[in-house]
Amino acid sequence: MYAFDIASDAPKSKLYANLLSAADALTGGEPDGIANMANISALLWQFLPYLNWAGFYRMVDDELVLGPFQGKAACIRIPLGKGVCGAAAREAKTQRVDDVHAFPGHIACDADSRSELVVPVLRGSAVIAVIDLDSPRPARFDEEDAKGIEALARLLSDRI
Ligand code: SME
Repeated sequence: MYAFDIASDAPKSKLYANLLSAADALTGGEPDGIANMANISALLWQFLPYLNWAGFYRMVDDELVLGPFQGKAACIRIPLGKGVCGAAAREAKTQRVDDVHAFPGHIACDADSRSELVVPVLRGSAVIAVIDLDSPRPARFDEEDAKGIEALARLLSDRI
């Protein structure tokens, strides 16, 4: 059993420092990428309040394919450039969307989603996956969330 000290009312800087150190401890000695993505999805779900989906899409033969996640069953394949995840993967750039209904081409996997944060995981200059977080609250994610998840993505570069 892994028990982590989670105070979701802590300041975000502390929350992300704790999340990162838990992620480092869980994935550091484990070479299996699927196991690591599964555990990171669980950590995101446990640590971050007001989420309805948290997980990974992996780059497979130039399209995104569903990876380990927490939340409702989701769309399996996303072409590059489609939706928020596809934009993050094609541009190799974080997408922070306050209102998913205003994002052209947003893919509604869960009708509860109102805002979304998608961060690419890079290995060298190649996008190997994206981390996708959805929230039922509009504008749930701010710049600090983006920076925190980007730090997590850097940690995972050679661990997934
Ligand atoms: N909404 C995403 C699709 C993935 S689900 O949110 C899990 C998108 O537009 O890319």
